[in-house]
Amino acid sequence: MTDLLLLPGDGIGPEVTAQVRRVAETLTPQLSLDERLFGGCSYDAHGVPLTEEALQAAKSSRAALMGAVGGPQWAGVPRDKRPEAGLLNLRAGMEVFANLRPALCFQPLADASSLKRELVEGLDFMIVRELTGGIYFGSPRFIEDLPGGGRRAVDTQVYTTAEIERVARVAFELARGRRNKVHSAEKSNVMDSGLLWREVVTDLHRRDYADVQLEHILADNAAMQIVKAPKQFDVMVTDNLFGDILSDAAAQLTGSLGMLPSAALGVAGKPGLYEPIHGSAPDIAGQGLANPLAAILSFEMALRWSLDEVAAADHLKAAVIRALEDGARTRDLGGQLSTAQMGDAVLKALEQTAV
Ligand code: NAD
Ligand code: IPM
Ligand code: MN
Repeated sequence: MTDLLLLPGDGIGPEVTAQVRRVAETLTPQLSLDERLFGGCSYDAHGVPLTEEALQAAKSSRAALMGAVGGPQWAGVPRDKRPEAGLLNLRAGMEVFANLRPALCFQPLADASSLKRELVEGLDFMIVRELTGGIYFGSPRFIEDLPGGGRRAVDTQVYTTAEIERVARVAFELARGRRNKVHSAEKSNVMDSGLLWREVVTDLHRRDYADVQLEHILADNAAMQIVKAPKQFDVMVTDNLFGDILSDAAAQLTGSLGMLPSAALGVAGKPGLYEPIHGSAPDIAGQGLANPLAAILSFEMALRWSLDEVAAADHLKAAVIRALEDGARTRDLGGQLSTAQMGDAVLKALEQTAV
């Protein structure tokens, strides 16, 4: 069984995953690595963004780690064959319904945020994004021609009790190991799915997690609070679409989208999918400018959550902090380092922080 399947993908994906490979080969040489095409490059080679073989490889590994997929080259491809559709199929196929997106402000980067230092210094909150349901997967979805001219597009937001409950459970469990506070974000003021979301979370809280502090928050207010006073949050659980948007906002609190990793988890014992939350960054792809830390920190999460390598995860996290303390900065963080030089800085810090 492969320990870690790498899915480098498109754009900066291969650039940042190359640095993950270097870190993995140095830090945990005992782990076996494998690699598959995924996204636009898979479409070009095989006519689909995710082959059945690649999906099986991911499902039969202990963890999968992707770079990023997509890019303007594939804008004209039918929607079900777009690189992003491959990513949705991978998440659904691996049944990773809970996406943990930590917004962590590393001390040395407190000034790299576009928010004032005092708002973000010490920030540590976790967005738990529902990942295999909601409007991303609901049917019907289509665009149709209208008889009188013009067209009509339909997407469907749909959630079941079971889908809401299992992701909320993950949030409550996480909170117990942290500061014991969960915010549940939805739009129960306008959406039936939001109403059901609030009811199910309230019910589950009453039944199994009354010891955890729970607050319901409307998703638009959550967006505002994230940029106003982000340190009030510990764990925020929300649906697929709101989680996508709120986590990009949270990422910028940490200094750059290039810093934020994520872990997508399913039922215990099944492989997790680890993804930086940034995209393929076509504007800087191929130039060696991308920050590899979101990908490297995604590997850190894989070590922790899927690979039973907690000590190695701690070591890697310490090394990333050390590299930042020593001034390592890619351009998105206001520095000059290339992608590979940031990889070098982490490797050097791994040596310096070895116990
Ligand atoms: P993006 O995240 O690719 O880029 C947004 C901005 O952030 C760009 O200016 C980019 O240069 C910068 N950026 C992102 N990651 C960076 C990094 N590691 N280091 C330095 N700068 C970084 O978002 P976008 O431009 O909206 O999307 C581009 C493509 O990526 C689209 O096709 C989109 O669908 C896809 N996408 C894929 C994923 C994924 O694979 N998980 C996630 C988001 C977007
Ligand atoms: C993310 C991305 C994806 C999403 C896209 C590329 C399908 O934006 O992982 O945040 O919307 O889930
Ligand atoms: Mn996103």
